Amino acid sequence: MTGRPVLGIETSCDETAVAVLAADGQVLAERVLSQSGHAEHGGVVPEIAARAHLAHLPGMVEAVLAAARTPLDGLGAVAATVGPGLIGGLLVGANYAKGLALALGRPFVAVNHLEAHALTPRLPGLVAGGAPFPYLLLLLSGGHTQAVAVEALGHYRRLGTTLDDAAGEAFDKAAKLLGLGWPGGPALERLAQGGDATRFPLPRPMLGRAGCDFSFSGLKTAVAQEAARLGTGALRQQDAADLAASFQAAVAAVLADRARHAAAMLRATHPGLALMVASGGVAANQALRAALAAAARAEGMALAAPPARLCGDNAVMVAWAAIERLRAGAALGPEVPARPRWPLDDALLRIA
Ligand code: KG4
Ligand code: ZN
Repeated sequence: MTGRPVLGIETSCDETAVAVLAADGQVLAERVLSQSGHAEHGGVVPEIAARAHLAHLPGMVEAVLAAARTPLDGLGAVAATVGPGLIGGLLVGANYAKGLALALGRPFVAVNHLEAHALTPRLPGLVAGGAPFPYLLLLLSGGHTQAVAVEALGHYRRLGTTLDDAAGEAFDKAAKLLGLGWPGGPALERLAQGGDATRFPLPRPMLGRAGCDFSFSGLKTAVAQEAARLGTGALRQQDAADLAASFQAAVAAVLADRARHAAAMLRATHPGLALMVASGGVAANQALRAALAAAARAEGMALAAPPARLCGDNAVMVAWAAIERLRAGAALGPEVPARPRWPLDDALLRIA
């Protein structure tokens, strides 16, 4: 490790994000640009995303370096997400970072986006006690819903995953049915605040089932059926709020149940397990965080969840994952190609 700051770049989906972290993990500056061009299409359009990353990245790097008071040649390494994600955006970020690293004569660090979400709670100052290994990770994003045993850096064991939709996807689809914009998660959470969560008896898929897999597509269908029963055309505001609250309560109940199962599974090999971590965009949801905190308490554990801005996609987590690997002498380099799929238990991430 050089002791110099690390530049992180995130372009795997529709957030263009840049951060500079000191070698000890202190955030010197960061910026996240949530692209606006997708809302009218009701979802991320990969080609639009890639072009927007290309348009914004150079200016954002310049601005963040200036805010961090770090000149280009003061950087110790340049890190970028190379997967999983949308290939166009990944290529833009990874190639930009590789070019910069080459020009500066500094190492390029290839980062796995899921590992970056997984290691976020270890960012200095975020969690009292610093989130030592092992911990149980609930990775809740737009593309992934997984319970993962984080046993050490590079050692991730998937305990359960979704059989159909990801939690964020379910939020986005339910929000669409309720006539909300995109992305739907934050809008649905706001709407649910004025709603009666007990009004619609929605299903709780997988509740009590052995293991800790998830399923959300039936819940989305149930929301569609309730909405249809309320009549054609736009929903009344109170109906929509009640349905949103009922949906969120169902997701919370399922997540809490699955988290408790996952904790019990992991305790079989790690009896002293004390920490549950929620990460990914959906973990920004306050009702879900409260349900997971209660589940953790019931298992004799504490819940750690990054602040909302570090739950969603950001570049702080990318630079931090690079720092963790540089410290361990296990950084991946330019030989790792950009790839749409790259699971956490892939052999490339293993550290002997
Ligand atoms: O981790 P993330 O920013 O991107 C991916 O890697 O997928 O997660 C995005 C997902 C979207 O589906 C979005 O609707 C959801 O996280 N989300 C939320 C909230 N904020 C973002 N879901 C529920 N409640 C929220 N407050
Ligand atoms: Zn993400």
